[in-house]
Amino acid sequence: MLSSSLAGLLLQVGLLAGVQPAAGQTSGPQPFDLSTISLTNSRWMDNQNRTVSYLKWVDVNRLLYNFRSNHRLSTQGAAANGGWDAPNFPFRTHAQGHYLTAWAFCYASLRDNECRDRAAYFVAELAKCQKNNGAAGFSTGYLSGFPESEFAALEARTLNNGNVPYYAIHKTMAGLLDVWRHLGDTNARDVLLALAGWVDTRTGKLSYQQMQSMLGTEFGGMNDVLADLHKQTKDDRWLKVAQRFDHAAIFDPLAAGRDQLNGLHANTQVPKWIGAALEYKATGSTRYRDIAKNAWDLTVGAHTYAIGGNSQAEHFRPPNAIAGYLQKDTAEACNTYNMLRLTRELWPLDAASTAYFDFYERALLNHLLGQQDPASSHGHVTYFTPLNPGGRRGVGPAWGGGTWSTDYDSFWCCQGTALETNTKLMDSIYFHDEGALFVNLFTPSVLKWAAQNVTVTQATDFPAGDTTTLTIGGQPGESWDLFVRIPSWTTDQAEISVNGEKANIDTKPGTYAVIKGRAWKDGDKVTVRLPMTLRTVPANDNPNVAAVAYGPVVLSGDYGSGSLSSMPTLSLDSVRREGSGGLTFTATAGGKSVQLKPFYDAHGINYNVYWTTQGKLPA
Ligand SMILES: *[C@@H]1O[C@H](CO)[C@@H](O)[C@H](O)[C@H]1NC(C)=O
Ligand SMILES: *[C@@H]1O[C@H](CO)[C@@H](O)[C@H](O)[C@H]1NC(C)=O
Repeated sequence: MLSSSLAGLLLQVGLLAGVQPAAGQTSGPQPFDLSTISLTNSRWMDNQNRTVSYLKWVDVNRLLYNFRSNHRLSTQGAAANGGWDAPNFPFRTHAQGHYLTAWAFCYASLRDNECRDRAAYFVAELAKCQKNNGAAGFSTGYLSGFPESEFAALEARTLNNGNVPYYAIHKTMAGLLDVWRHLGDTNARDVLLALAGWVDTRTGKLSYQQMQSMLGTEFGGMNDVLADLHKQTKDDRWLKVAQRFDHAAIFDPLAAGRDQLNGLHANTQVPKWIGAALEYKATGSTRYRDIAKNAWDLTVGAHTYAIGGNSQAEHFRPPNAIAGYLQKDTAEACNTYNMLRLTRELWPLDAASTAYFDFYERALLNHLLGQQDPASSHGHVTYFTPLNPGGRRGVGPAWGGGTWSTDYDSFWCCQGTALETNTKLMDSIYFHDEGALFVNLFTPSVLKWAAQNVTVTQATDFPAGDTTTLTIGGQPGESWDLFVRIPSWTTDQAEISVNGEKANIDTKPGTYAVIKGRAWKDGDKVTVRLPMTLRTVPANDNPNVAAVAYGPVVLSGDYGSGSLSSMPTLSLDSVRREGSGGLTFTATAGGKSVQLKPFYDAHGINYNVYWTTQGKLPA
């Protein structure tokens, strides 16, 4: 900490220029606690319900199997799992942290006691595993489903069994932190602090060079979770450990704004960028902000498909390579889950920009909503989202592609992140600062904003309809501003009315419209209309190849059980809406009539997202 006179001196000579407010003072809108927002009936809630039903059904003792077995405790007669949690799978127990987080989210948002009890039981059992480390021959604090010797091999750079040990540790730590945060569970706190202490001890012995070399192996968001632990505890020790995981080979080019992503394993990188955003907020060092922001700009601008996903075969391809990589293994879901987390960390730093939530909406609606099988009562999901002509979710290759996950035989990374996605669909709809409410997403929901003593109820059938209504309830105290994102995809006919009267405010697409300083009354109704039009989303690398969208919704061709061997040519001028409402269109492609529907609804059929295009969309 600088003495104030020294800081004054440095300010005078300009040395602190560019240094942002210190830890904890990062300005900008804040998210609401999950417990204050609930979804109401909608497609979003249906997704949440399916995931919650799986979370309350899955056998907790099966999920404990590898932890208990590794820490030399009885597996209590439970069966072992298959897939990425099989007893011989290298990074088994990577998935359990996602279950912990999802149970914590379920409890936080729904006050569901069964989710709470499952999380608490699981953590209590993890505590027993950790306490048995002496007998198991592990160091104090260690907690995992595979032996600690994997870390010795990782450090010696001799690990060659495909394990990514810190990737799994990160997930466990993040799950424990969420259970501590949302349940107030002190077991979770103690187990987490012991495990974090183990990480500190282990990594504290390594030189900078040894550490950087070790970071060549995927390590998830170790800097993210440790910076988050610092935020939770205010203990600088954890920030120091977080910064040990700053990966120079990735951070240096990003700090300089250079796109060197080509060929990198995508989901290995995104969590590091979330960590950088948190480290910026903790330290005020603008280098961290630049890394996170440049990574976001490059990825969204030059590596992202129309549906908001990135990567092919899990890897970044050359900048702007889109049309050249439309395969069965595009758009790994974890990457998008992580990009959304990065987005909601970055937006508050530049809250006048709609680019962040324009992207968030695009990726959540067009990629992650449809990642889940609506026919699965357990909310099973795909790993990739195929974008090849005639792609399909539901059937396909035995591994990856568009194949659905299963109850006990998948445990892919993307199954884990989807448990979180579908239990936190409410977490980014609203943000606030002292005197303002920000509406970023158009999702049916109820917000209880205690600081202003109001309830805000959002009713909408968006994106099937173009209107959303926000009703203010309660006895508001002071006046406050209402900011509404006017997406860049809408038209200059966007409008906002208050109690039926058009508000005389700027509603330009790609800005936040603001109703300033209104003294809100019980029953006030704000109606937001965001007209949608047909538009193309061209591939960066080929202007003749494009997806077609209506407003925010990417449309896909319904080919039923018909197969496609190449990208069909779509006559853009043939696209017509069926009827006056709804999101079904017809068009002519390859000389044949085809229906276009929201891609998030393309289930149980072969679909087509990208087209060779001809002509112009009707005005
Ligand atoms: C979804 O779950 C909620 C409880 O969280 C329940 O009120 C609602 O009826 C469920 N919806 C359906 C379609 O089952
Ligand atoms: C908050 O609103 C409730 C009614 O919804 C009212 O009874 C209460 O007095 C209000 N509290 C404050 C501090 O304004």
